Amino acid sequence: MSTAISPTAYNYKVVRQFAIMTVVWGILGMGLGVFIASQLVWPELNFGLPWTSFGRLRPLHTNLVIFAFGGCALFATSYYVVQRTCQTRLISDSLAAFTFWGWQAVIVGAIVTLPLGYTTTKEYAELEWPIAILLAIVWVTYGLVFFGTITKRKTKHIYVGNWFYGAFIVVTAMLHIVNHMSLPVSLFKSYSAYSGATDAMIQWWYGHNAVGFFLTTGFLGMMYYFVPKQAERPIYSYRLSIVHFWALITLYIWAGPHHLHYTALPDWAQSLGMAMSIILLAPSWGGMINGMMTLSGAWHKLRTDPILRFLVVSLAFYGMSTFEGPMMAIKTVNSLSHYTDWTIGHVHAGALGWVAMISIGAIYHMVPKLFGRAQMHSTGLINAHFWLATIGTVLYIASMWVNGITQGLMWRAINDDGTLTYSFVEALQASHPGFIVRALGGAFFASGMLLMAYNVYRTVRASDPVEAEAAAKIAVVGAH
Ligand code: HEM
Ligand code: HEM
Repeated sequence: MSTAISPTAYNYKVVRQFAIMTVVWGILGMGLGVFIASQLVWPELNFGLPWTSFGRLRPLHTNLVIFAFGGCALFATSYYVVQRTCQTRLISDSLAAFTFWGWQAVIVGAIVTLPLGYTTTKEYAELEWPIAILLAIVWVTYGLVFFGTITKRKTKHIYVGNWFYGAFIVVTAMLHIVNHMSLPVSLFKSYSAYSGATDAMIQWWYGHNAVGFFLTTGFLGMMYYFVPKQAERPIYSYRLSIVHFWALITLYIWAGPHHLHYTALPDWAQSLGMAMSIILLAPSWGGMINGMMTLSGAWHKLRTDPILRFLVVSLAFYGMSTFEGPMMAIKTVNSLSHYTDWTIGHVHAGALGWVAMISIGAIYHMVPKLFGRAQMHSTGLINAHFWLATIGTVLYIASMWVNGITQGLMWRAINDDGTLTYSFVEALQASHPGFIVRALGGAFFASGMLLMAYNVYRTVRASDPVEAEAAAKIAVVGAH
């Protein structure tokens, strides 16, 4: 608890804007996820039009959930955490506002260009060069705001959450700029500066580290602030958090080749990627354990606090997906899992279970503080959201495991005379029930986001005297 600075001295405007947009983009991105999941069940939903076809909407889904939903959650929480832990206001309000509007412009650019078919074709790096350049400018500005704020901090040391956010910002800039090196030939068409296996290696160096630094390191920054705050306990081990940080960022950068097993990439590079991925289990679990153990002595709070439950269950899914990932990186396992729904299940164990759940927990924690309310409008609705999200995630990943292993086994089954036992269509038919369960799980998860939107709306608009009075008290006491 600190009274060193009044909350009004912080720039909460930009945090509020990013927090609200996290919810808005979450609904749209996940809603689109449910739509493309339904297209895989009922292909008629492609409507026979290029703009609404699975092939064009799928990258829009990934861009909306990763960059719009996940990105806004990372901007909101990092600006919140850096101000509170450094006890100082963001270095520049106008630069911070530029990052907000610039980021929204990038997302609108994606919404317009991807359905029209403009794409670099590189996964998670699809946006064509004018939008990619805007993104780079916004990102460098974000770095200036974040690190500038750290340099004028009023505290002596830099809280570990900021180390993680800092690494996420620096490495994302590096990955984005290197992987997007290309030659524009028209306003919306460019060709990669790299070719062949080099192009593939750079793309998956980018792709895996987008997972490692965008979808993991940034969210670990979130974990290191919001888990201790919500549990009202100090982080279990500060020393472990430092070891966790250096081990994680040193190892992640080498693991990209596990996306290119059995390809034209040199064999030694594939084996190196596999070895580094297996070692990566250690820092990943170190971080997970550090977060979980923070609850020592506070486990009983899980019974009554659904926000804490979101944060803790996200750590459990993080542990699960970072166990599964190293296993899938083993070449023999990958020969079964690659191209199948197992990968899709792994992705969403991380994306729904870890990324989305920790973001949702953090937003529920922040919203009352950002808008001067004592608490969220309804704890019951947060609880309902928690169950929808958890059941939705479990339905999603369990159905994809069943589908993935079924597909992998059916594709490799061979008759005595060496011919294939099953045709591709037979494996697709066997996948149909799993596709239905996945769409249902997705619908559960996305409907939880609607409850969240309503709860956030009621919290922001709350004007009853009790809440106003409590809010006034918070403002006077000051918070940390
Ligand atoms: C309601 C929730 C969601 C549903 C129903 C959903 C559905 C889908 C579907 C159907 C696909 C295409 C799978 C395929 O090609 O076979 C997909 C891909 C993907 N989604 Fe989601 N999604 C949801 C939420 C999210 C979230 C929150 C994230 C990230 C934070 C995410 C990240 C991704 C990624 C990265 C891929 C590409 C995976 C790959 O290429 O291996 N999704 N999603
Ligand atoms: C120690 C940690 C992890 C390791 C070693 C790992 C490893 C892997 C492997 C081997 C694949 C399959 C590659 C293929 O066959 O094409 C994969 C795919 C993927 N993983 Fe992980 N994973 C880890 C954690 C995570 C987490 C926490 C997330 C999400 C937040 C995640 C998101 C993804 C995505 C999006 C893909 C699909 C990429 C694509 O093909 O489009 N991973 N991962």
